[in-house]
Amino acid sequence: MAIVIAIANQKGGVGKTTTTINLAGALAERNLRVLCVDMDAQANLTVGLGINLAEVQESMATVLGEHRTSLKEMILASGTANIDVAPATLDLASTEVDLLSAIGREYALAEAIDHWAQAHYDYILIDCPPTLGLLTINGLVAANGVIIPVQTQYYALKGLTALVKVINTIRAKLNKNLRILGLLPTFYDSRTVLGREMLGEMREHGDNHVFDTIIRSAVKLGEAPLTGRPITHYATNSDAANNFRELAKEVIALG
Ligand SMILES: Nc1ncnc2c1ncn2[C@@H]1O[C@H](COP(=O)(O)OP(=O)(O)OP(=O)(O)O)[C@@H](O)[C@H]1O
Ligand SMILES: [Mg+2]
Repeated sequence: MAIVIAIANQKGGVGKTTTTINLAGALAERNLRVLCVDMDAQANLTVGLGINLAEVQESMATVLGEHRTSLKEMILASGTANIDVAPATLDLASTEVDLLSAIGREYALAEAIDHWAQAHYDYILIDCPPTLGLLTINGLVAANGVIIPVQTQYYALKGLTALVKVINTIRAKLNKNLRILGLLPTFYDSRTVLGREMLGEMREHGDNHVFDTIIRSAVKLGEAPLTGRPITHYATNSDAANNFRELAKEVIALG
């Protein structure tokens, strides 16, 4: 059975997609089979894993839409061994609107992750959009665990309460298996006082587990999407690649 992990934070640009792609890379190089599910109409995950959007015909929009294509039918191989992609396209935005009036609207993704997908992959990583809307809720309802990337910058912890509240409600009402695997500090810069203070605040004052791994700010991580490959494969000896290997180790240990 696959371990299903949602990467979520309604705040934009905190490193959700980067975490998804590169955690996938670090798991894949351990010979674990990974499916990356793109729940964001921006399709950054899809493009970042080397898929040409012009060639995508069936996407998460069709999986979650009225006719419900199965994941098996629409999954694409990324350019990286052991990583498949369930791509997004722009029309996922209108799918979210259509879902609003559908029966069982919160369970569409959980249902799509069927026996085949559960048996075929070791990890299924769901990259959520920067909203607390129905697509993110579908991601959280389908997941066993959630990783919350948090930028180690000012105001980063603001808004976290709203996310944790949604997660707690989903756990109480829709998916009792959902647990917060941890907050993941991202964009860390040890040279700034602010970065160090924020990290301290997360560790000391928060109620949630914080990963030991810290994802540092790294120019190479910003460039990796252009290569269509995870940093573990694109700059295999970089500190950033090693950051994600440490994260993979922690995630595996959490079970
Ligand atoms: N640790 C890092 N160091 C440097 N650049 C980074 C780092 N993490 C992410 N980036 C870059 O910052 C931008 C935002 O990151 P990313 O797309 O992963 O965030 P996101 O939370 O998925 O954003 P959105 O909310 O729009 O989906 C991207 O251009 C990415 O390449
Ligand atoms: Mg993103």
